[in-house]
Amino acid sequence: MTKFLPFHLPDIGDEEIESVLAVLRSGWLTTGSKAKQFEQEFAAMVGARHAVAVNSCTAALHLALEAIGVQEGDEVIVPTMTFAATAEVVTYFKAKPVLVDCTEETLNIDPRAIEEAITEKTKAIIPVHFAGHPCEMDQILDLARAHHLHVIEDAAHALPARYRGKIVGSIADATCFSFYATKTVTTGEGGMVTTDNPEWAARIRGMSLHGLSRDAWNRYSAQGSWGYEIVSPGFKYNLTDMAAALGIPQLHKCEQFWKIREHYAALYWDGLSGLPELILPSAADHVQHAWHLYAIQLRPDRMRIGRNMAIDLLKKEGIGCSVHFIPLHLHPYYRERWGYRPADFPVASKVFDRIISLPLYPKMTEDDVQRVIAAVRKLIGDYRL
Ligand SMILES: Cc1ncc(COP(=O)(O)O)c(C=O)c1O
Repeated sequence: MTKFLPFHLPDIGDEEIESVLAVLRSGWLTTGSKAKQFEQEFAAMVGARHAVAVNSCTAALHLALEAIGVQEGDEVIVPTMTFAATAEVVTYFKAKPVLVDCTEETLNIDPRAIEEAITEKTKAIIPVHFAGHPCEMDQILDLARAHHLHVIEDAAHALPARYRGKIVGSIADATCFSFYATKTVTTGEGGMVTTDNPEWAARIRGMSLHGLSRDAWNRYSAQGSWGYEIVSPGFKYNLTDMAAALGIPQLHKCEQFWKIREHYAALYWDGLSGLPELILPSAADHVQHAWHLYAIQLRPDRMRIGRNMAIDLLKKEGIGCSVHFIPLHLHPYYRERWGYRPADFPVASKVFDRIISLPLYPKMTEDDVQRVIAAVRKLIGDYRL
C-alpha cells in the first residue's frame, strides 16, 4: 500500500524537545522568562518595537482591534478569502465584518474593492497575506491614511515574508501572527502581535491577562510582589512558557525552513508549470513569499472532474490535500446574518470551486514533492478534456 503523505507535519527537532523539557523541569510553566525571550527575539526578527505573545492569532487580532478602539456599530473591512478568525473577531465588538473580494493573481484582498467598501463607519482594514504572499500594502496604507483608518495585518501565513524590502511585522499599525500546529513556526497553539506603538503594545499586554496591571512574573517571581489592579475587564490570552520554549528554537529555524519551502515551491513550478489545466501560484517581483501554502487551481473548462473529486483521487494516491479557503461569504452565518451572496464576490466564488492546497513543508523530502507532482500529472492525464 502507498504510504500516506499528510497535508502537513510539523518539524520538531531535539532542540525543541530539550527546550520544552527545560521549562517543565524549571518549575515555571506559565508566562515568564521564556515568553519574554520569545517576544524579544520575534520583535528583533521582524523589526518591530514591540511584540506581545498570546495564545493564538485569533487572540492577537481580537486584542489589536481592542487596542485601536473598535466599537459597536463600527465596520471593519476583511477579505472573504480567509479563515473564520479574521472576521469573527470583528463580531466580538458587535461591529460589522465588511467582506470584500480578492484579486485573481494573488488571491489577496483587492485594494479597489476596499476603496468601494469604505463608509463613514469604517474603522479598520485587516489584509490577510494569503498563503504567505504579501498584500499590496502601499495601496492599502494610502487608502487607510486618506480615510483615517487603521490597518491590522493578519500575517498568520506570512512568516517570514517581505513587501518591497520590508519584513511583514513592521509595515502596518499592528501585525498578528499564528503559531498554530500547521504554521511555518509553531508552538502548537500560539500567536504574536507586533506594533511600533507603545500605548497599543501596553494595552494589548494588559488585556491579554485580564486587564491586570501586573502579570504573574511580576507577582510570583523572586523580584515580584503580590499586588495588582484590574485596569479594564480583559481576557485570558497569555502564552505559556512551555509554548514559548517550543517557539524559540522554531524561530531560530524560520529562515532555514523558509528556504526549503521556497525550494519546494520552485520544484512544484518546474514539475507542473507546463500544464494548461492548472493555474499555479507565483510570487510578484517586489515580495518575498513565505510559501506557507501552495494553492493550485484546476481549470474547469479543461477537466472532466471537479476539485472535490480531484482531492479524493489524490488521497487515493496517498497525497493529503486541503482547501484554503471556503470563502466566508459561503458560510451560513455570513449568508444569513449579513446577507452576502456568491455574486457579490465573483473572484473568490469562482476560485473556491477550483482551488487545492498541496503539501508544502520542510519535513517533506524532495522525493515526496516529486511524488505529489507525479500524482497531479497523472490525475490531469487521466481526466483532461
Ligand atoms: C488567515 C488566518 N488568520 C487567522 C488564523 C487563526 O490563527 P490561530 O489558529 O492561531 O488563532 C488562521 C488559522 O489558520 C488563518 O489561516
